[in-house]
Amino acid sequence: MPSFHIITFGCQMNAGDSDWMRRTLSAGGLTEAERHDQADVYIVNTCSVRDKPEQKVYSELGRIERFLHVQRRKALICVGGCVAQQIGDRLFRRFPNVRMVFGPGGVHAAPEAVFRLLEEPQTRLSFLDFPDAYQERRLNLELKPFEADLSGGRQAEAALGKAPVSTLVTIMQGCDNFCAYCIVPYVRGRQKSRETTDILQECRELVAHGSKEITLLGQNVNSFGQDRKTPGASFAELLYEVAALPGLERLRFLTPHPKDIAERVIQAFAELPNLAPRLHLPLQSGSDRILKAMGRKYDLPAYMKIVENLRAARPEIFLSTDIIVGFPGETEEDFQNTMSALKAMDCAFSFSFAYSDRPGTRAEKMPDKVDPAVAAERLARLQSWQNGNTEALLRARVGETCLMLAEDVSLPPPSTQKTLPALQGKDERGVAVNVELAPEVNGEELIGRMLPVKIIAAGRHSLKGQLG
Ligand code: 5AD
Ligand code: SF4
Repeated sequence: MPSFHIITFGCQMNAGDSDWMRRTLSAGGLTEAERHDQADVYIVNTCSVRDKPEQKVYSELGRIERFLHVQRRKALICVGGCVAQQIGDRLFRRFPNVRMVFGPGGVHAAPEAVFRLLEEPQTRLSFLDFPDAYQERRLNLELKPFEADLSGGRQAEAALGKAPVSTLVTIMQGCDNFCAYCIVPYVRGRQKSRETTDILQECRELVAHGSKEITLLGQNVNSFGQDRKTPGASFAELLYEVAALPGLERLRFLTPHPKDIAERVIQAFAELPNLAPRLHLPLQSGSDRILKAMGRKYDLPAYMKIVENLRAARPEIFLSTDIIVGFPGETEEDFQNTMSALKAMDCAFSFSFAYSDRPGTRAEKMPDKVDPAVAAERLARLQSWQNGNTEALLRARVGETCLMLAEDVSLPPPSTQKTLPALQGKDERGVAVNVELAPEVNGEELIGRMLPVKIIAAGRHSLKGQLG
């Protein structure tokens, strides 16, 4: 049976697409390769939102080609995602061993195409169109098993039986916002929402097969449904419906846009006990002048009002954000406003980036580009404050008991002295928690359970706990 390996770059949308491809390829009879350099099929799911990921893709493809060359064997190499969309068929020329190229709009077609390419070694395929509507991707139980035999159905069930404890469910694709710096609308196309019934059906099936936590995903998750011609459920209504599924312990969503946060969504944090107290809310800049130039369509007071309302609805909530420093025209004063905003919102985690030009965006053509050395220095200052704040917030929790959803068990890395296995999971606020297990405890049996854990130490980004 051929084996596959998926390499994922970039955002949670890509992670969600990769998860779905993994489930579908497994349901079709392929197995996941035990060693990364031993697979028969490689799928590189790429990201082009910032500079470096693009280069990483090229080096990743080079790396695969090199070890295949050394091993004197061939494999089926497929490249998907945003870089694939941008570069398109030219990838075939640069990497002659690549046999499939597909953009984010072609993910639904990729698994079946893999099966076809395995049977037709001379064929190359590309899926680079933007479909008009969300292309529904079912859990594809009816997908033809690679080697059609009677065990196909059972294999598919077995693959489903292993639904991850925590699963990403895409509810919409694309983005209509065209923020000045962002390439997403060009590579992922316009916003396309999924049908509510299809989302609920997928969530129900996942919970029935063992998922305890669902993260609803979209580039702009809270404008869900706004692209529909006929009225349907709003994002808030969808949240309430998913939260009500029996057996769903925890619900999260990523990534909302501050301009579209409805009051009902904030209310949901007060009313839905299984909606986790954590929100990633990209601010991008704390300067109104820069926010306007970015085309973000909110100002700092509006953002802070949301923060205030969220904290009133759920005082223990952890907030995280995305920041771009060095956007064209950013002055030291603009940057100071960003720093003050982060402090005022008591940001628990931030993902911060130095602005980089993306081809075809409005910001690319803007004057007053910030010197990269200045941007790097601002970024370092911001990250240094953030690291301190993250550590302080985590340290303040030592002694508390949190509720951890156990997701995995792992052995300690050989470089450490430790020998005991550790249980990994996340607490309510989305912080990674590690629990060292006593030799007599069977960690595998704990996976999928919500466990009270006493926090005994704080790391830079994670917590250490003891089963309570
Ligand atoms: N330069 C730097 N950062 C960017 N991001 C998006 N586009 C750019 C760019 N051109 C960041 C934003 C976004 C995150 C996913 O990536 O902060 O929220
Ligand atoms: Fe990009 Fe703005 Fe859309 Fe986010 S909201 S994907 S930053 S255009």
